[in-house]
Amino acid sequence: MRIVVLKDAQDVANFGANQIISLLKVKPKSTLGLATGSSPLNLYQKLIESNKQKHLTFNNITTFNLDEYLGLDENHPQSYRYFMNEKLFKHIDIKIENTHVPNGSSNNPIESCELYESQIANSGGIDLQLLGIGSNGHIGFNEPSSSLVSRTRVKTLAKDTVEANKRFFDDDQFQPHLSITMGIGTIMDAKKIILIATGRTKADAIKATIEGPVSANCPASILQMHANATVIVDQEAAYKLDNLHYYEHIEFENQRLLKAINQNNNLN
Ligand code: GLP
Repeated sequence: MRIVVLKDAQDVANFGANQIISLLKVKPKSTLGLATGSSPLNLYQKLIESNKQKHLTFNNITTFNLDEYLGLDENHPQSYRYFMNEKLFKHIDIKIENTHVPNGSSNNPIESCELYESQIANSGGIDLQLLGIGSNGHIGFNEPSSSLVSRTRVKTLAKDTVEANKRFFDDDQFQPHLSITMGIGTIMDAKKIILIATGRTKADAIKATIEGPVSANCPASILQMHANATVIVDQEAAYKLDNLHYYEHIEFENQRLLKAINQNNNLN
């Protein structure tokens, strides 16, 4: 697991966006796994700027979002489809028909989950999956106790997740307690994974993800078993890590190695 600790949320967004930009430069027809929530907002802004300045095109990419509330149709302002349209898709040159979000208003959600899995497989699999993390360690809506090999399915939201997301709903508005989410196995099939987290409210989840045992109690801890996962955090989200200085040292050495390779120098 690569652990990148940066100064603040903007640096995290820039670093994360650059991972995506670099991939699209070498593979313009990539399939991206995308996330919602407040964590990726600055990163999406950076991608939008890059697209507007013509440094980058999304014309050939396909996307799959992690999750959706069950019971909200795509025009509902709190649906994740609406979020993605408003926060990213509307502002870039992506073909909207190549964007996928699980169907939150499906009459047969179980069938929709199977369809979603086959659509991902038919696209050739996800090249890069972007993740946020819940303060209880969830990824997508894979709440604690989720099977670590689960596939896309209907998931009941944990009480603390409903509580954390209450801020987006009016008091008299229906707030879903169910979701459709990619499974942990689905996420782990991505060729590369980047997880971004900022702020002190994520510090416990980040400690459990990086330094805890691999456990369904903290679904994000499964990333320890992925061959190409990068966790990008700011100082606040990293402050509970026991081995923080060690991770910073490794990253320093990684950068030195890359620089030496790029300049064709030796490391002495
Ligand atoms: C939500 C989403 C997750 C997201 C997480 C954190 O419930 N299902 O995909 O990563 O919570 O959200 P935020 O980035 O707003 O803290």
